[in-house]
Amino acid sequence: MVFDSAEYWRKRYESGGNSGAGSYGVLAEFKSRVLNHFVAVNKIESAVEYGSGDGNQLSLLEISKYLGIDLSAEVIKNLRHKFSDDSTKTFMEYDPDCFVADDVVRADIALSMDVILHLTEDRRYEKYMRNLVKSSKKFIGIFNTATESQLDQMAQHNRYRDHRVWMNLYAPEFSEVKVDLTPVDLGYPATTGFYFYQLQANISHYLLMRHE
Ligand SMILES: C[S@@+](CC[C@H](N)C(=O)[O-])C[C@H]1O[C@@H](n2cnc3c(N)ncnc32)[C@H](O)[C@@H]1O
Repeated sequence: MVFDSAEYWRKRYESGGNSGAGSYGVLAEFKSRVLNHFVAVNKIESAVEYGSGDGNQLSLLEISKYLGIDLSAEVIKNLRHKFSDDSTKTFMEYDPDCFVADDVVRADIALSMDVILHLTEDRRYEKYMRNLVKSSKKFIGIFNTATESQLDQMAQHNRYRDHRVWMNLYAPEFSEVKVDLTPVDLGYPATTGFYFYQLQANISHYLLMRHE
């Protein structure tokens, strides 16, 4: 049977599973420390995250306004409950195969954390990246292992992708402005880290045209 990444995540959450090791412990702390610093330095006020997960990583994020989008109805229901006292955070379930980003989901920074690894199908990866880029007013933050080299044994829900290749080809209006790689002692592949992009003012008309 052909592996279906969306089905995998829906079932995983429905059966009580969580977002995985990368959303907890030292890796979650690294991701939040790097992201919170970038948000503060650049005075970023709003974020939209594609693949918000179970909320553990989100509980460490410091930002004025946040929209979390995920394909799992179960996880969105749980997030609304978990953050019911926090009016700065809203959540939306979406169908990753049909959704086309519009102004409602645009924010200062569009985030993708530990999701690209799970986009095993090319068409889902393509769609996901297009929505991510379209949702950014100024910045994009991607936490990923940026390589096309697979391990000898990969779990069926994992596939490494070098998002830098896609960004260079299809989003040249965004330049890579900062990369924070994970510390070596955490044991992740060398290209694992947070990659930040900024919309270049001189070619921002690209983006305006995309929204027409
Ligand atoms: C490993 S978790 C990461 C969660 C969170 N971003 C974090 O860093 O803790 C991956 C998340 O991506 C979601 N996901 C998988 N495929 C997706 C897609 N095509 N579009 C949006 N979210 C997706 C899953 O449902 C899951 O919540």
